[in-house]
Amino acid sequence: MDIEVYYQSRGGNTKTIAETVAEVAGVKAHSVTEPFEGADLLFLGGAVYGFKLDDSLVEFINNLDSDKVGYVAVFGTSGLSRTPVKAITKALGLKGIKFFDDVYLAKMGLSHKSKPSAGQREDARSWAAGIIKEFES
Ligand SMILES: Cc1cc2nc3c(=O)[nH]c(=O)nc-3n(C[C@H](O)[C@H](O)[C@H](O)COP(=O)(O)O)c2cc1C
Repeated sequence: MDIEVYYQSRGGNTKTIAETVAEVAGVKAHSVTEPFEGADLLFLGGAVYGFKLDDSLVEFINNLDSDKVGYVAVFGTSGLSRTPVKAITKALGLKGIKFFDDVYLAKMGLSHKSKPSAGQREDARSWAAGIIKEFES
């Protein structure tokens, strides 16, 4: 089974979560600006800036080929909102790409300087392990 992890991150928070997920999957995490060839299981994450996803992530999703992606597992980080996971799953749905309803979101709170906590990284690890187990079964 081919697993890939791709993320969009301006400040490093989503990258931290992506690297945690990638560690569980035993692969390397890639930025959405890097080439993507396809995957049986794609972990895809992003954040929200001024109520919107970053353009690079929107472009990555627009370019996804439903024939080259089995399932997507969505994660994200934000201050408070669920926009990253909601907007990504909505965009995937519109393209007819399958995704897990079980998403992972780490909320950083109101300070833009907050970083993912050890607990949030642990939660991301458990979430990723659960997704992989479900996908393999
Ligand atoms: C310019 C800017 C705008 C933001 N806008 C929002 C927002 O609209 N809603 C929200 O919940 N969080 C907002 N945040 C918080 C980020 O989504 C949060 O810090 C996230 O973890 C950033 O991810 P990154 O470090 O991977 O770039 C904003 C942060 C910045 C820097």
